[in-house]
Amino acid sequence: MYAVQMKGITKRFGDLIANHQIDFDLKQGEIHALLGENGAGKTTLMRILYGLYHADEGSIYIEGKLAHITSPRQAIQLGIGMVTQHFTLVPTLTVTENLTLGEKGFLVNVSEMEMEVAKASERFGIPVKPSALVRHLSVGERQRVEILKALYRNARILILDEPTAVLVPQEVEALFEALERLRKSGLSVIFISHKLNEVMTVCDRISVLRDGQHVGTVEKDSTTQTELARMMVGRETFGITRQGEQKPGRPLLQVQNLNVLDRKGLPALKDVSFEVHGGEILGIAGVSGNGQSELSQTLSGMIKPTSGKILVDGVDLSKADPAQMAAAQVGCIPEDRHAGLVSELNVAENIALMHLEALSSRGVINQIQMKSFAQQLIDEYQIKASPRDRTRTLSGGNMQKVILARTLSRHPKVIVVSQPTRGLDVGATEYVRSKLLEQRERGAAVLLISEDLDEVLALSDRIAVIYEGQITGILPASQATPERLGLMMSGSIKEVTSG
Ligand SMILES: Nc1ncnc2c1ncn2[C@@H]1O[C@H](COP(=O)(O)OP(=O)(O)O)[C@@H](O)[C@H]1O
Ligand SMILES: [Mg+2]
Repeated sequence: MYAVQMKGITKRFGDLIANHQIDFDLKQGEIHALLGENGAGKTTLMRILYGLYHADEGSIYIEGKLAHITSPRQAIQLGIGMVTQHFTLVPTLTVTENLTLGEKGFLVNVSEMEMEVAKASERFGIPVKPSALVRHLSVGERQRVEILKALYRNARILILDEPTAVLVPQEVEALFEALERLRKSGLSVIFISHKLNEVMTVCDRISVLRDGQHVGTVEKDSTTQTELARMMVGRETFGITRQGEQKPGRPLLQVQNLNVLDRKGLPALKDVSFEVHGGEILGIAGVSGNGQSELSQTLSGMIKPTSGKILVDGVDLSKADPAQMAAAQVGCIPEDRHAGLVSELNVAENIALMHLEALSSRGVINQIQMKSFAQQLIDEYQIKASPRDRTRTLSGGNMQKVILARTLSRHPKVIVVSQPTRGLDVGATEYVRSKLLEQRERGAAVLLISEDLDEVLALSDRIAVIYEGQITGILPASQATPERLGLMMSGSIKEVTSG
């Protein structure tokens, strides 16, 4: 018996075909992964199932019956629940109020309702605190409330859209255990992910989407991560990792007791200290929003610290502005690559912005030199663009390559790089990582700020964890495991700092 059958689903957004003739089915009591790179069409397909989008073509059957789902309300009535990364809970209400909102009103006895929620929490094996205010809950706890909310509304089919993106490893494990239990009690789950190891852990079958098309559906037990990767990207991938130990040089970046306020004037970095040596990558691991943005902005000279020191190759740059940082050979690869480029300027002009002294004489840019320098970098960095293309027309991967080319061609001593591969496809990700490793080999000090733990583990010589604006520990890569880092990332343990 199929819980869901989607047949020949096509969805267009203008000229873009987000879903092209997709067939997808979900068996009752299975966990079925929807795997694909960013932009493959996973969310679109599931928004169609949940009634948020309407397919241009195709039909949907729920438990064998043809269904016309035109709104989430209808989807819920059919027993479908969806949990996205953007939570829909009301922060100022309690867990119980959120769960029962719109169900029975507030007139019913509060403690009775809380008892009911507690019972549901136990029955489904999803621990929540019924009387807690949602705004006091961690991201992982909120996600559990969302899942319980769907189950509480009698969902028999649960869609989870990249549920692990916001979780630390321990929470991921707890989620997987809960899903396993729910599946045994007959729930059918669609688990969207782009992470191969996750879908191999928790799913029964895996359907792969690529460029809006259904590439295939395989049984977990008869496939491998390599095969899945090939299906996802259309070729074999070769994971990039750091090669061997390297004797680190002198400290090129020293950060001492740095304190920084965020935009609201609240402490964003508290007494942060670390060093990055030449020929070394120091990874900063952490869950999003724990001070990473402020750290990279401070090191690029955009935010001034309230106290503490930043030394670059021994020179005090605590009060430097972005131009002074750049002049001191600090290269920054920003978190938001759109903000790093001037979208209305072309590739050659964007590159020239950081090479003005070399490309101009007496204040005038030499156009021919500018174009040929851009072409040289385009060739070297395999950028799919011409010097004349406006950068706003480039894909994310090519934008990132322009930023890398522009920054790395200055041979910086210190490189501060934030979320370098976020949103990039596998090919571009590998390319960017290999370039960072080249910089390490060249002898640069690389500070890698990334929320992608696999990335931090693959590239770093040492790993620091940031939690609520503080460094909770620094470990050599050889001693770092996802479990240990996860505990540090959730603030549960502190390590003795060794760097
Ligand atoms: N509301 C929308 N309007 C226009 N384009 C969209 C919309 N939603 C998604 N897309 C496009 O459809 C494609 C598939 O997106 P999506 O389903 O979100 O992919 P995935 O979830 O696999 O990352 C992307 O190119 C995306 O930009
Ligand atoms: Mg998506």
